Amino acid sequence: MLVYLNGEFIPKSEAKVSVDDRAFLLADGVYEVARVYRGRVFRMQEHLDRMRAGLRSIHMREDDLDTFADVAERLLDENGLRETNSIVYIQVSRGCAPRTHHFPPAETTCTVYIAAREYPGPPPEAFEKGVSAITVPDTRWSRCDIKSVALLPNVLAKQKAEEVGAFEALFIRDGVLIEGSHTNVCGVIDGSVVTYPACNYILPGITRAVVLDEVAPAVGVDVRLGPILHERMDQVQELFLTGTTSEVLPVVTLDGNPVGDGRPGPVTRRLQEGFRQMADQGVSASVTSSI
Ligand code: PDD
Repeated sequence: MLVYLNGEFIPKSEAKVSVDDRAFLLADGVYEVARVYRGRVFRMQEHLDRMRAGLRSIHMREDDLDTFADVAERLLDENGLRETNSIVYIQVSRGCAPRTHHFPPAETTCTVYIAAREYPGPPPEAFEKGVSAITVPDTRWSRCDIKSVALLPNVLAKQKAEEVGAFEALFIRDGVLIEGSHTNVCGVIDGSVVTYPACNYILPGITRAVVLDEVAPAVGVDVRLGPILHERMDQVQELFLTGTTSEVLPVVTLDGNPVGDGRPGPVTRRLQEGFRQMADQGVSASVTSSI
């Protein structure tokens, strides 16, 4: 498998990063994961825009960012990933320098790593029957809008879910379900989709934006930005996750209790179907009104 590291396409086994890399020592970097449907990258521009915003937020240069889409395309070709579903991973760190908390010398070049690998997505049963989730307190920092490689709270939360056989762990902040360890979360209350507004406490998900701004209007579903209160789960008829690796995934139990009637609901189904159609088209063309 060929990967891209600092300007070179090389076999993954030869791709080596220094122990002085600031992502290794300090988690000083940002990343993106983009989905590839049948060989076509889904919403690469949005992913790169988010990465650019993240780099700016952490005061890093973004010199080569405009080349990343071409790099991803070449990796798909070189690795024979044009006929399959896969993901592209992009990571930029502040580069290699002796460890200091403050920034390294100005001439330090960032480390850029881009790789693509086959990824079939969650199993079909997960989409059909839904998945379970647990809740965990949100112990993260207050810049969750930056897609930082510092993912320890997310790792611990997801591991806790794994240990009880759940798919996702949903973070609770001030009594509100705000997002998952690797997904955004939406509820359905009185027929409308309700989700936490994009702010510093959540990642502005690309899938979330596609679902809220494009799929929901196309399939006639109302969207309201607001809190899903953990103590009022009785009001929540449906719950679903959105994410690059998860698409639109119904959550049917939360902390062992059924959500709604414990089955994927009709609003989730419409959004799921609308999203799938958009992903299949691989373009931002509007969803047909037949859904
Ligand atoms: N995670 N929230 C968090 C904390 C995430 O890490 C992710 C994505 C999302 C969904 O965002 P998007 O729709 O842009 O994928 C929300 C990626 C897939 C990951 O870490 O692997």
